[in-house]
Amino acid sequence: MSSNTVKHSYNVVKADREKRNGHRAMLLWFTGLSGSGKSTLANLVEQQLHKIGMSTFSLDGDNIRQGINKDLSFAPEDRTENIRRIAEIGNLMVEAGVVTLAAFVSPYIKDRENIKTIVGAENFIEIYINTSLEECERRDVKGLYKKARAGEIKNMTGISAPYEAPENPDIEIITDNQSIETSVQYIVDFIIQKLK
Ligand code: ADX
Repeated sequence: MSSNTVKHSYNVVKADREKRNGHRAMLLWFTGLSGSGKSTLANLVEQQLHKIGMSTFSLDGDNIRQGINKDLSFAPEDRTENIRRIAEIGNLMVEAGVVTLAAFVSPYIKDRENIKTIVGAENFIEIYINTSLEECERRDVKGLYKKARAGEIKNMTGISAPYEAPENPDIEIITDNQSIETSVQYIVDFIIQKLK
């Protein structure tokens, strides 16, 4: 499908945009079970980066799946395509010089490896929001776990579909044991070093 296309070189490149912004651009990828706190933490981290003048943008599972990816289900091959498209969007955002925060379940190791290939390992930070299934199910903010247990939702991550935890994430947050404020501060302190 991509035959007969030629990549055009532009004179303004990522480095120029980073220079103007005064910081590097990266894709900060939050992975974890539904209800683990990915979006909550990404939102608070973005707020802090925005406050100190960084150029930021957030991509979120629930939003993307209502828009550009509304044709995709939660079957394994559709999740792979979901993550591939988001990685491509993230890559464009990073090329645009923007610190991009992405919060997606992204349950498969191979799909997360593919993001790294698309955006470049040097532009990618994997943040594992490690909240136990018990805790996610106890919170059940969207009522999805209850429905999944009742058999009303197929392919529910953690219940009837797998979650492959990162083996070597850049950051791991165990939310069962620490406050939101502590988690946010930990992530911000880590990534600010990388974005300088
Ligand atoms: S992913 O697996 O393809 O990365 P994504 O992050 O886009 O998932 O979407 C996950 C969100 O969709 C969850 O937070 C939840 O609100 C909702 N959802 C609906 N059905 C499912 C399901 N079967 N498994 C996981 N999440 C689901």
